[in-house]
Amino acid sequence: MSERKILVTSALPYANGPIHLGHLVEYIQTDIWVRFQKQRGHCCHYVCADDTHGTPIMLRADRENITPEQLIAQVEKEHRADFDDFGVAFDHYHSTHSPENKELSALIYTRLRDAGHISKRTIVQAYDPVKKMFLPDRFIKGDCPKCGAKDQYGDSCEACGATYSPTDLKNAVSVVSGEKPVEKESEHFFFNLADFSDMLAEWVNQPGHLQPEVRNKMAEWLENGLQQWDISRDAPYFGFEIPDAPGKYFYVWLDAPIGYMASFKKLCELKGLDFDDYWGKDSAAELYHFIGKDIIYFHALFWPAMLYGAGFRTPSAVWAHGFLTVNGEKMSKSRGTFIKARTYLNHLNPEYLRYYFAAKLTAGVDDLDLNFDDFSQRVNSDLVGKVVNIASRCSGFIKKRFDNTLSAECAEPALFQQFIDANEVIAALYEKREFGKAMREIMALADKANQYIDEKKPWIIAKEEGRDAELHAICSMGINLFRVLVAYLKPVLPVLAGNAEQFLNIESQSWPATAEPLLNHAINKFKPLMTRVEPEKIAAIIEDSKENLEKTAEAPVKKHEPIAETIEFDDFAKIDLRIAKIIKAEHVEGADKLLQLTVDIGDETRTVFAGIKSAYAPEDLEGKMTVVVANLKPRKMRFGVSEGMVLAAGPGGKDLWVLHPDQGAKPGMRVK
Ligand code: 2FM
Ligand code: ZN
Repeated sequence: MSERKILVTSALPYANGPIHLGHLVEYIQTDIWVRFQKQRGHCCHYVCADDTHGTPIMLRADRENITPEQLIAQVEKEHRADFDDFGVAFDHYHSTHSPENKELSALIYTRLRDAGHISKRTIVQAYDPVKKMFLPDRFIKGDCPKCGAKDQYGDSCEACGATYSPTDLKNAVSVVSGEKPVEKESEHFFFNLADFSDMLAEWVNQPGHLQPEVRNKMAEWLENGLQQWDISRDAPYFGFEIPDAPGKYFYVWLDAPIGYMASFKKLCELKGLDFDDYWGKDSAAELYHFIGKDIIYFHALFWPAMLYGAGFRTPSAVWAHGFLTVNGEKMSKSRGTFIKARTYLNHLNPEYLRYYFAAKLTAGVDDLDLNFDDFSQRVNSDLVGKVVNIASRCSGFIKKRFDNTLSAECAEPALFQQFIDANEVIAALYEKREFGKAMREIMALADKANQYIDEKKPWIIAKEEGRDAELHAICSMGINLFRVLVAYLKPVLPVLAGNAEQFLNIESQSWPATAEPLLNHAINKFKPLMTRVEPEKIAAIIEDSKENLEKTAEAPVKKHEPIAETIEFDDFAKIDLRIAKIIKAEHVEGADKLLQLTVDIGDETRTVFAGIKSAYAPEDLEGKMTVVVANLKPRKMRFGVSEGMVLAAGPGGKDLWVLHPDQGAKPGMRVK
């Protein structure tokens, strides 16, 4: 097996929010693949970085009264801690706000510009006149032009699914200032993606570059023709200024993927690696990007074109995965299923989740469901019940009866060899990212090991005299099979594997393609390697995730019913409101809610039935001034005709208050 040179990336998380379980599908998937390659002896580097630029980060820093640099430093610290604690082991974790990224972004841009792939054009965009900034679509809200749903973003409606441009929104306001956006012109820079149509058609269709289902989607996009890509944003913007254009900044998505290169560049500096070996036009190294299916366009079209146009190599493959659902539904803050990495870590062993994701991952782009019942069941039955159980069943006898030393001969060489021979199938599945299938192969071996112990019944042999050698051989066999299983699970469960190596008293295990059984070998005291999932911990995670929401809710809960739809002045003018004097107020026979009022509205006297009996006695009202709707169509009621309506406020019952005008207002005066 000759040594491969491999560079692997996961998508760069935005530096304006915490890592959640949805993110972790990708980082765990990538980390498993990288650990597998390293265990096989290949030279594999895994780099990532925080994606630090853009309007949301600038505005959040603004809101928190800190600089964007302070914000991204704080978030980077949190992200790194979350990744570390989940065992996601980057060889380097960088930031897109770094000198390496600034230099590489400028280099790639100027090469593209000098080769004629950048154009300039003036466009009209929504602008916040108070905050003095152009507004990304997500920072404009208003009523959906299609279904009228309120509070929808500038690009699409969550109620009816319509997509539109922000200028189509009704009653649009800037989320930043609350002000109505105006339209304003500005010159933008564009990357001429269509210049690379032929190159992309070839790259996309080359087998292995993309998953088949992704390739088909890309082919569709290519057929529809490629549009220019707007790569500039106007100040104020947190990002890198474009070299030849003061006040113009690279759009966050321009410098984000370049962050992969920047992170690796820094790693080269730290480890003495050669950057061009991996990124040069003729590089023989392999380059793989793991991404979510929502950002395929950027990675399968823009990115290869940018690299090619600027004289760098293109990726060996881009591998997309699906989204995480929890208990069959989209992650939801109100249901407590929008779970932050840290919330999970506060309660459960991260390796449970690593195993669960591995057991469900495929090489495809289907969504992955985290079902908590299934999660507990798989972890308990596979890891605790099958794998760890082998060691705990055998280690007791080895300790008590054989001085913690394994037997000098292998009891079942053929069975041991069967476990070793499985390495090729398992390796091929890891290599193809068919982790679920790999886990099933490994668990089938674990079943075999347990069957072997069940058949041999060491607990019975242990009680019979003269069968010590047999007992020793069986338990040693069990431990040797356990050791191979742990080697196969090591990419997924690095902590468990490390503890098992300590127990087995062995060096860090490489891929067991040629492993021999441990014979006449002293082992260490067995400590439980994994405990069962405690259901109350899962409940606590969900509870804490709900709490998080309450604590971080941005919009205060509204205390009153929403303001009614906007009306024209003419609509208001149709309502004839008059000052009235209550001349008489009396109970109505048989009515528990109504009082009958006789009101003087200037030139006439009216009878009005008002539902205010729960809050007023008639004598409290007589002689008082109020406001009535004088042109309301008379309404026939059981007790007579009501010729108007008295204005009152409040939810009802005792909490009702009749309106009174200020002193000086006379019956008959119109309220306008
Ligand atoms: O979608 C995202 O979360 C982006 N921050 C991913 C960037 S990946 C790469 F291109 F930098
Ligand atoms: Zn709508």
